[in-house]
Amino acid sequence: MCGIVGVLGNGPVAGQLVEALKRLEYRGYDSAGVATLEQGRITRVRASGKLKNLEEKLALHPLAGAIGIGHTRWATHGKPTELNAHPHAGAKVAVVHNGIIENFRELREELQARGASFASETDSEVVAHLVAEGLARGEAPSTAVASALRRLKGAFALAFLFEGEEDLLIGARRGSPLAVGWGNEGVYLGSDALALAPFAHTISYLDEGDWVVLRRVEVQFHDADDKRVDRRRQPLLAGSFLVDKGNFRHFMAKEIHEQPEVVGRTLAHYLDLAEGVVNLPFDFGFDPKSLSRITISACGTAFYAGLAARYWLERFAHLSVDIDIASEFRYRDPPLLENGLMVVVSQSGETADTLAALRYARAQGQHTLAIVNVETSTIARESELVAKTLAGPEIGVASTKAFTCQLIVFACLAIALGRARNVLSIEQERELVSQLIAAPAQMAETLSDERQVETVARDVARAESVLYLGRGPAFPLAMEGALKLKELSYIHAEGYAAGELKHGPIALIDYAMPVIVLAPPDASLEKTVSNLQEVAARGGHLILIGSRTAHTAAAAPLAGFIELSEQVSGPFAIVVYAVIIQLLAYHVAVFMGKDVDQPRNLAKSVTVE
Ligand code: AGP
Repeated sequence: MCGIVGVLGNGPVAGQLVEALKRLEYRGYDSAGVATLEQGRITRVRASGKLKNLEEKLALHPLAGAIGIGHTRWATHGKPTELNAHPHAGAKVAVVHNGIIENFRELREELQARGASFASETDSEVVAHLVAEGLARGEAPSTAVASALRRLKGAFALAFLFEGEEDLLIGARRGSPLAVGWGNEGVYLGSDALALAPFAHTISYLDEGDWVVLRRVEVQFHDADDKRVDRRRQPLLAGSFLVDKGNFRHFMAKEIHEQPEVVGRTLAHYLDLAEGVVNLPFDFGFDPKSLSRITISACGTAFYAGLAARYWLERFAHLSVDIDIASEFRYRDPPLLENGLMVVVSQSGETADTLAALRYARAQGQHTLAIVNVETSTIARESELVAKTLAGPEIGVASTKAFTCQLIVFACLAIALGRARNVLSIEQERELVSQLIAAPAQMAETLSDERQVETVARDVARAESVLYLGRGPAFPLAMEGALKLKELSYIHAEGYAAGELKHGPIALIDYAMPVIVLAPPDASLEKTVSNLQEVAARGGHLILIGSRTAHTAAAAPLAGFIELSEQVSGPFAIVVYAVIIQLLAYHVAVFMGKDVDQPRNLAKSVTVE
């Protein structure tokens, strides 16, 4: 996912542009660039690789100019080279872009036929040339931008800078977020509040299809029909966005260790702690007894949270659950039953496939609920109901605290639906809620000593392939554990239902491949242990994550054992077990010297297909 910034300042802005881009690094990128106006002329400095390369160039070629735009690029079209880095320029205009212009090939050919020459392989450059053509026709910048926007298909956020226009920036959004910030030193554009936090004290978000004209004394919003509109201006509480690593080496480590706090905060938002019952912070707006079915769709880690929730929703709310990854769901054209509830899950609230799945469900007349970590996100704004995870900004590209907070929200939702549908008694509710309330302390205890995990991590780091096994809700956790290991250490890993072992994967067993068995003390423990023994009988490289009970029951030679308290049990035990699979992947990646917070090729939120 790319990052966009724009500054209309009272003095040199290059430093602010780079500072804002640094706060967008978490989104993942592979090149960067800035452009400012110097004596009315557009001057660009771009670099492939990390921001430090851009800073080195700026040290050699300092940019003056009190107005500018900047960009961190996550390559979609064209390699991560300086030539493909943004800003891209046409005659008298420069542009930065987050998203994908789906019809860029036809536009490129059309523009080239009219004499435009392209310097890059990117889709974004067509936008610069379209606007340049408008300017050449004598159109004002805002007119040229508005007409160019009408030619574009796809998802984008854009920011424009114009030759000779010392008091004008233009921004536009369709599918990718963009915000306007007001500060003491100027007016700003940014992909999100994080980028603007150091400079702005108030913020407005563009709506879908909006474009905005920024001048130092006035900001004018226009909707998709080019009509002037107002957008709510809200305080930007910089403190809530102050993100730093604290005493941790990586954001991911900090965020893993924040889980007791943020899981506790999320629980407090969804429970009546005094009464020990669920108290959702919203009304459904429909009768849960009339619900026909729940459909869940998400991507990546968020999808695994949904897979785990299926067990809880079916058991506690007696609701059938369909679930699919959003990139498949959106093209299956599934028939959805009347009175169905669509639940989409997304940390960023901007994942393109998940947003498309939501829009499909809405078009089918489904009730919609979004479990998101960013309340102002597109997915939140387009959902009937929003259940926020109070995880706080998640900077590490690998999702950790958002995942456990998603599990908590789903657990509370399942209990609330069970009660509302009269299929769960108050006694059962109180028992389940007491297990949830215990989770933050159990997570803290689990985090208090990482030595067992570090020992196992040094073993796993030598592997070329790893198999994770689990049953029940621990099966999606096995898949999440495999995803964490893959995305952080680049070691191939697979999460499998332990019961599937004999249906194929058992052929993989040999000592070179660690088999990590998740065995929380729940109803399926006995069966999981017998799967573990099947691996042991074939000389497998066994690593057990479980309680002392599981260890005793296993009675098998183990290459590793990560012990959790016996108290961590029951249907929600995976909320605490998640901490271990996160720590394991983290320590393997650290041991291997990988880029933990920004793994190669990954973006924090995939806002393009
Ligand atoms: C998380 O560890 C992954 N990097 C990734 O799979 C992520 O979960 C997925 O892209 C969905 O993102 P979202 O929750 O912001 O929609």
